[in-house]
Amino acid sequence: MRIAVVGSGYVGLVAGACLADLGHDVQLVDNDGSKVAALQAGQIPIHEEHLPELFRRHHGRQLRFTESLPEAVRNSQAVFVAVGTPPTEQGEADLSYVESVAREISGAIHGYTVIVEKSTVPVYTSDWVRRVMLRNATAADTFDVVSNPEFLREGTAVVDFLYPDRIVIGADNPRSAAVLREIYAPLISGSYYERPDAISGPASAKVPPPLIVTSAKSAELIKHASNAFLAMKISFINAVATICESVGANVEQVCQGIGSDSRIGRRFLNPGIGYGGSCFPKDLMAFRSVARECGYEFRLLDEVMRINEEQRNRFLRKIRNALWTLRGKRLGVLGLAFKGGTDDIRESPAMALVQCLLQEGCQIAAYDPAAAERARGVLNSSVEFVNSPYEAATGADALLILTEWEEFATLDLKRLQKVLKYSIVIDGRNLYDCETMAALGFTYYSVGRPSTVPDSPAENGTAAAGKLTKA
Ligand code: UGA
Repeated sequence: MRIAVVGSGYVGLVAGACLADLGHDVQLVDNDGSKVAALQAGQIPIHEEHLPELFRRHHGRQLRFTESLPEAVRNSQAVFVAVGTPPTEQGEADLSYVESVAREISGAIHGYTVIVEKSTVPVYTSDWVRRVMLRNATAADTFDVVSNPEFLREGTAVVDFLYPDRIVIGADNPRSAAVLREIYAPLISGSYYERPDAISGPASAKVPPPLIVTSAKSAELIKHASNAFLAMKISFINAVATICESVGANVEQVCQGIGSDSRIGRRFLNPGIGYGGSCFPKDLMAFRSVARECGYEFRLLDEVMRINEEQRNRFLRKIRNALWTLRGKRLGVLGLAFKGGTDDIRESPAMALVQCLLQEGCQIAAYDPAAAERARGVLNSSVEFVNSPYEAATGADALLILTEWEEFATLDLKRLQKVLKYSIVIDGRNLYDCETMAALGFTYYSVGRPSTVPDSPAENGTAAAGKLTKA
């Protein structure tokens, strides 16, 4: 099918490349000329596994790039809208880009076209898009608006798109639903997974994925409610981690216990320094605004956000606890991205912590496998960007782990100990086993687990090597 995707941000770019891999003819539109030129030249602006492979397969053939929305739309049976919906000062989603794209589409469609909402948008957006199209003299029987929320995560975006837990189609009539069914047919029928060149997915993937057909409004709510629920799960476990720290319990054991209840599940129950990224913080605020407009105060969401904020402050207190004063201390920082596997630093809790530590007068040597370039543009020049975790640790008063990159979980701990000024690791992602760190003589703080403080004075005043204590 001929498809236009408007917006070459994270969702648009990944969706466009994956739709091309499903066999469609995709034109990706962006109004940023330099971005389009870079994409036409084969440059990929984001760090995302499998995207280079999809570019090699389809670039310039089934995946093309243009600045001209009318041209792309004129030739397409479906137009995916994947433009940004940034928050306004009040926290609502700013839908002005969606509206102007709808206006532009209205002047360009030829024949029946389905407008597909791919951006995360509040409930009623599909109604508004429809109204904008009608106001701009588009005949009612030449288009439909469908909500098709996307659940991909940065870092695993391609695999998430091709191996989704479910495909949600929010369509208010069978005609538009049929177009979406056709677009996703290779996934829904399972034929994609039989192809020898299919991008390989996780062993646990449910293939083919279930298709959920709903009204457009329900689909819009499914997206906001899913992100809000996931953020709530993270804040919930972070709150439980705080209790674990006060009583000397281990949150990993608690997670295992509660997560093995199939009604709860183990995923997204990892405590840390709070959630970040371009989605959860923005979507929670937007969902709260939507609820308020509908006359409901969704106070649970306020609490989810409060716990998230507090989690970062608690981690800062942990660093103070470990080092006493901060001015002039040299800290090695591992991880600046908002999570592992991505170069995205938007709303990154790691970046926020580094900024606080700089304000406190710390010297920072930071390492991130992918996000250093982006971070350099934001952090002031006092941060030293280094090329390995060991370089970050060299001469440092303590090493902080802020992002769950896989390579941070397999460090040579003896080597680390040799290069650190003091063997102090403050781990915001629980990547190491407390007992192992204790046995090696590290002072080790993590989240929701007993701390290892070998040099803390024991009750009789002598040092207690490798002792596990309450945080
Ligand atoms: C999130 C959702 O997971 C996707 O389903 C959704 O499509 C996407 O938002 C979106 O709306 O576009 P993403 O922001 O890429 O995806 O990242 P996540 O993997 O969800 O992580 C978000 C934050 O939560 C990160 O800072 C991560 O470190 C943190 N997190 C995640 C935890 O602290 N603990 C966990 O157990 C899981």
